[in-house]
Amino acid sequence: MTNAPLSILQADPAGLAVAANMLRVGQLVAFPTETVYGLGADARDDIAVAGIYAAKGRPSFNPLIVHLSSLAMAETLCDFNDDALRLAGAFWPGALTLVLPLKPDSGISKLVTAGLDTLAIRVPDHPVAQALLAGFGGPVAAPSANPSGRVSPTTATHVADGLGHKINGLVDGGPCDVGLESTIISCVGTPMLLRAGGIPAEAIEACLGRPLATSADPETPVAPGQLASHYAPKGSIRLNAITAEPDEVMLGFGSVDAPLNLSPSGDLIEAAARLFDCLHQLDAMGATRIAVSPIPNHGLGVAINDRLQRAAAPRD
Ligand code: TXA
Ligand code: MG
Repeated sequence: MTNAPLSILQADPAGLAVAANMLRVGQLVAFPTETVYGLGADARDDIAVAGIYAAKGRPSFNPLIVHLSSLAMAETLCDFNDDALRLAGAFWPGALTLVLPLKPDSGISKLVTAGLDTLAIRVPDHPVAQALLAGFGGPVAAPSANPSGRVSPTTATHVADGLGHKINGLVDGGPCDVGLESTIISCVGTPMLLRAGGIPAEAIEACLGRPLATSADPETPVAPGQLASHYAPKGSIRLNAITAEPDEVMLGFGSVDAPLNLSPSGDLIEAAARLFDCLHQLDAMGATRIAVSPIPNHGLGVAINDRLQRAAAPRD
């Protein structure tokens, strides 16, 4: 998040070179895709990705879609089975997002996947998105470029109106053709429709030669951010703890004595950037009981508390 003035960039080689450099130094750049405008950041940069959540004011850490310029690059991050290769071959570049197993050493920020071991990826078809992604040469995490709870933006003006004071750059590529978000298909196991979108499910079923699985109620595809499989650590969690009991491991925030600290200086952006990594570290340490310092409930603290409360809730 920033209060710096917004740079509106033209979709020409000079403007795109500036946009790619902004991504390289960890800034937030909105750009057009054929579906909707995305709010992009380097998907390997924890702090930049935390900035996306801060700018959107998202109350929870829904995992983000990573955008790439080619299938070859996508294959360096995820494991593609036959179904995934068939769908990518038929619909990429295009309005299709695939959820696939993430390779362990992908380098993708845990904040992008919200700690899951799967990744949503897409190769967009818009020439401006293609040029920016190829010029940047790496993975770009990008949710739709709207404040949380508002409609997705299909013009640069929508983006500037909603987020203009919170982002660094905006590449103006005119109106989006599809105007509807990408269709999301999980190819982890039997292909499943997670979100209806720009490519009709029928076209995907025709390509696969069999029906897609759906959630229990076919009228309401699974809201992906709310999947029950959402990452939670193995240990039980006690919130708003001032000190740890003898059998607890302390996850601190601010100036507390703890083996793991989300942000010793009390910075919520840093805490968000480190949250999922700390939860994984607690698992690696074998922590069975975890005490967590109080986290201020404003800014990114709202999303951090949402995630911790879900993790602390009784599990089936
Ligand atoms: O058209 C689009 O898809 C646009 C453009 C910018 O690419 N992006 C977009 O992103 O709509 P967003 O963040 O608004 O929606 C991403 C959706 C969320 O519902 C999220 O929960 C889901 O993708 N998602 C991301 N990673 C996932 C994963 N590993 N498993 C299941 N769902 C995932
Ligand atoms: Mg969205």
